[in-house]
Amino acid sequence: MQDKPTTTVLVTGAAGYVGSHTVVALLERGYGVVALDNHCNGSPVAYERVQKLTGASFVKVVADVRDEVALAHILSTYPVDACIHLAALKAVAESGQKPLDYWSNNVGGLLAVLRALQHAGPCRLVFSSSATVYGVPEFSPVPEAAALRPASVYGQTKLAGEQILLALAAQSPLSRLATLRYFNPVGAHPSGLIGEAPHGTPNNLMPYITQVALRQRHELSVFGGDYPTPDGTCIRDYIHIQDLAAGHVAALRHLLDEPGSFTVNLGTGRGTSVRELISTFDRVNGVCVPSVVVGRRSGDVSEYFADPSLAKELLGWCARHTVEDMCRDAWRWQLRNPEGYT
Ligand code: UFG
Repeated sequence: MQDKPTTTVLVTGAAGYVGSHTVVALLERGYGVVALDNHCNGSPVAYERVQKLTGASFVKVVADVRDEVALAHILSTYPVDACIHLAALKAVAESGQKPLDYWSNNVGGLLAVLRALQHAGPCRLVFSSSATVYGVPEFSPVPEAAALRPASVYGQTKLAGEQILLALAAQSPLSRLATLRYFNPVGAHPSGLIGEAPHGTPNNLMPYITQVALRQRHELSVFGGDYPTPDGTCIRDYIHIQDLAAGHVAALRHLLDEPGSFTVNLGTGRGTSVRELISTFDRVNGVCVPSVVVGRRSGDVSEYFADPSLAKELLGWCARHTVEDMCRDAWRWQLRNPEGYT
């Protein structure tokens, strides 16, 4: 299944959740990888697991993505053809408390990468954006043309990143830039070797569910039971991390083969409520996750899910895994790694 054996990709944020799965997908398809991470969220143990899974070696650089000296060194040392830029801070609530850190990491990091790439020639870059740029969408499924009005600092930094790429594409038509708007990535590699390893209390639903299932936490708080949805809980478009990783490879392949820049949603097109996710998790894993409905979480949107048709049309990519797969794989990862990467 090698399709680009001589292509080398710089992956920033490579030791993180999305990064580790994307590096596996690249190595499995024969790409060379230069992995950059400062390990502020990602773990070096993830690299050992990636190597174990793929049997492939790759270059690892420990550096902050804003470190222009480190970036220049990478680009003068390795034959980098393209970059998948994932390094960023991503906690919505924290972004309001540490706005300068978010702007610096998320926008400063992107600028540093673009400057370094531009120095070496026209940019080939896949950018990790988020469905959070839509804010409160007027309707679902949400197409890429929907209004962009992010409600958090995190979302604003992602939108600013998108705008920087638009400006660069207009000024430098030889650049090839892909913006990927992720919906809700969950699950883990089916081996159980790599997965999501949040530090401290998880902010997101799936890692909270798996920790409650393991009795590391007492019960799950369901944030709001009175939304205007069929069961009263919020609806999201959960996408298996393996599908998300494959989406990065599809976007990269398109950039390498075709001129131009593009923005696509990466989602399944299917909405699942909080209650449905819990009951599916219980059913497929034979467990019982105790939960209690509490008040709404500030800033939550009642319902949204992707229109993923552009990604299918342009990249030939679509999500293949079911919510059952997501629950099974998330649980396998948690069971095998109760403390995350240790
Ligand atoms: N939820 C709970 N209890 C929890 C955690 C979450 O009920 O302990 C609920 C939330 O209220 C929401 C749903 O589960 O209704 C999903 O919440 P997540 O925090 O898992 O995900 P969000 O949709 O809030 O946000 C995620 C990412 C963002 C990203 C966004 C894009 O965290 O970074 O998806 O759609 F921007």
